[in-house]
Amino acid sequence: MTNTKQTILTGIRVNGEMTLGNHLGALLPMVRLANKHSVNSNINIFVPDLHTIISDIDGTLQANLIKSIKYYLAAGLKLNQNVHIYRQSYIPAHSELAWILNCFATMGEVSRMIQYKEKGEGKDSTNVGIFDYPVLMAADILLYDARYVPVGEDQFQHLELTRDLAERFNHRAGREVFVLPAPTAEQAKFMGANDGIRIRDLQNPERKMSKSAAAENSKIMLSDTPEAAAKKVMSATTDSVNKVQFDMSNQPGISNLLQILSLLQGIPLATVTAEWAGVTQYGEFKAAVAEEVKAFLADFQARVAEISDREVLDILEESEAEVSKIAQAKLLEVQKVVGLR
Ligand code: TYM
Repeated sequence: MTNTKQTILTGIRVNGEMTLGNHLGALLPMVRLANKHSVNSNINIFVPDLHTIISDIDGTLQANLIKSIKYYLAAGLKLNQNVHIYRQSYIPAHSELAWILNCFATMGEVSRMIQYKEKGEGKDSTNVGIFDYPVLMAADILLYDARYVPVGEDQFQHLELTRDLAERFNHRAGREVFVLPAPTAEQAKFMGANDGIRIRDLQNPERKMSKSAAAENSKIMLSDTPEAAAKKVMSATTDSVNKVQFDMSNQPGISNLLQILSLLQGIPLATVTAEWAGVTQYGEFKAAVAEEVKAFLADFQARVAEISDREVLDILEESEAEVSKIAQAKLLEVQKVVGLR
């Protein structure tokens, strides 16, 4: 069984709860693209559970995993025979291909990955998984010939690595065993963004909004009560320019709130920015963003509550039976190239 249709693929780790950054940077773009393209493209959405245990082994994985699938459904993902939703560890070919790709990746290039540099470089106690996780990510993508991989900007470097590994392997094989994912500029365009999406930390808008941030009011979690989330928006760091305008270098806080408003409303950033042009009171602007976040969470959480665990497990089991055939066929092709079969 081979892939003849174009494949669009993504995954979100399930370490704890998801943030509004995960939602706006990855989940929502994927759902919009899936609904637009699932008539004639394969849509692969998977839970990178093997990536999750790199940092947390705490007994919450199963519950978070089920919840993450409910999030896609609550965000409006429409299911049909081309939409596959699966767990990474249930398809052993991911781990096996990652090992083979390890033998094509160099210490130099993997050491240059920013997430490793930020989280683990130079510490003897860093687990090897943190170092190697981009290679497993490459395997996740290349197994299914995915051309488009909707992710936030922080993952673009991993997509470039994936392209490099695919190219190197194809060169070795002397033919196109792997489809190269599109270059990152094309990925952003495909997602409907000018650049990669990066939602900022509310307190420290120089940084991305991250689930591992220590300060609670720096991040909005999808499980926050709508009222608590609105308060976090009201207390977001701004600046003393006193102009609502999009200028990420000089006004990252205000620009971040404009970005959030635009993505939640599904209205282009330029239109939202034009609507607020000339406003000099941040209070009024923040209140509007807070109201939008509050309404979004109330509606989203009500939808999540309507989906049962059984419904999710049925979807997973059916998809896993199907995609494992595709993954296994690709793995066999790769094993032949390196002489394992
Ligand atoms: P992860 O789990 O850290 O993040 C999941 C997705 O959310 C995006 N994201 C953001 N987007 C905008 N603003 C933010 N503040 C923000 N924070 C997170 C991330 O860019 C990502 O798209 N390695 C991946 C998971 C993965 C994967 C894959 C993704 C494993 N294999 C294969 C795609 C294809 C990760 O750790 O993302």
